[in-house]
Amino acid sequence: MSKVRIGILGGGGILGAHAPGFQKLTDRCTVTVVAEPDPSRHARIRQLLGPEVILVADYHDAINHAEVDAVDILLPHHLHLPATLAAAAAGKPVLTEKVMARNIAECDQMIAACEAAGVSLTVCHDRRYHGEWMALKEVLDSGALGEVFYWKLEHNQNVVMAEGSWARSRDGIGGGAIMSCLTHQIDALRWYGGEVARVTCLTKVLPERMEGESAGVIAAEMASGALANLSINWFTRSHVGPNALWYELVQVCGTRGEAYYLSGKGTFVLLHDETNTAAVERYGREALNGFVPVPSGPWNGHERCIAEWVKHLRGEEAHLLTSGREVRGTVEVAEAAYRSAQRGQTITLPIEPEPWQSTSDGAIGTAGFAAPADPTYVVAAG
Ligand SMILES: NC(=O)c1ccc[n+]([C@@H]2O[C@H](COP(=O)([O-])OP(=O)(O)OC[C@H]3O[C@@H](n4cnc5c(N)ncnc54)[C@H](O)[C@@H]3O)[C@@H](O)[C@H]2O)c1
Repeated sequence: MSKVRIGILGGGGILGAHAPGFQKLTDRCTVTVVAEPDPSRHARIRQLLGPEVILVADYHDAINHAEVDAVDILLPHHLHLPATLAAAAAGKPVLTEKVMARNIAECDQMIAACEAAGVSLTVCHDRRYHGEWMALKEVLDSGALGEVFYWKLEHNQNVVMAEGSWARSRDGIGGGAIMSCLTHQIDALRWYGGEVARVTCLTKVLPERMEGESAGVIAAEMASGALANLSINWFTRSHVGPNALWYELVQVCGTRGEAYYLSGKGTFVLLHDETNTAAVERYGREALNGFVPVPSGPWNGHERCIAEWVKHLRGEEAHLLTSGREVRGTVEVAEAAYRSAQRGQTITLPIEPEPWQSTSDGAIGTAGFAAPADPTYVVAAG
């Protein structure tokens, strides 16, 4: 089979995580075109993807290019919808970076357009493809923890945005830190623990940083009855430097055991009782005395997602976990959280779609997401 030809829309920060994924598959696919209007980013794009890559300024030119079979959308969030609609109209399958879109009304338009055109829509929620996050999924699916009743998921980062960044505006990013990045944790929670039934949310805006919230907390009840405690802080340096805390944490407690994933450390499990024989056999007796590491594959989430997507494009068996239909539920939880914060109420899911309410009069910045010179920003971790 000839190589699948990929067009990448947007050549900013996250291209650094996507390009190596495609470059490891050069026998199966080739990135032919990248759309990037900022010429100061072109040298890096050529460095990442080779000198022969065709550069165009606007994403429509990549979508409609004769040498592009499928597109990978790495654009600001407000452009995920129009770029997906244009790709569907051109009959080209879509992989889009998270967050899928700014609200479920936009997700629904993306899903409907791709289904009507008969093209697939996949969201690169990379955590679901990451070895250590998958190791935690295996622990949960094994039943070793008994009945899960409590979750804690945290995301800590110091996101310093460039002046004029699209992400500073609520319209560009789709809200703030919750929609942009706590959706990593929400998506993982849904993958691990099933659907969310209701949410209560509080947010904190620091106007000098960005229009939307820099910090947010969500208290959730799962359909299973478990409680979940999710938080994001985009203004903390706690995750870098000597004696640092963590960037991301997932902690889960069940009636028969506990487990966690901690970025930079790995995935661990603790068993509460020795009558849990299948689990003791699986993780060893040491797991009765303290947390033991759970073996995990070496997979980088972005690269594994891309590898599975390329298999799918080639008609091979692929393990894609993040279709547009599946990931819509993640956006729904974040949107419900915003409605909770705005109304001061607990919101029960499902919620009805509402059109995006603009607050910026079209004034969305075009500068990149993050100030690249900032040493405390975890660029590839999002
Ligand atoms: N999964 C993760 O861990 C992670 C981490 C960072 C970013 N992301 C996601 O990646 C996406 C992009 O984020 P980023 O950090 O690379 O942002 P960025 O601002 O660095 O890059 C976006 C690029 O899109 C370009 N662009 C804007 N309008 C365009 C147009 N009309 N045509 C073509 N290109 C256009 C911009 O010039 C910019 O270079 C977002 O969805 C973001 O949430 C994911």
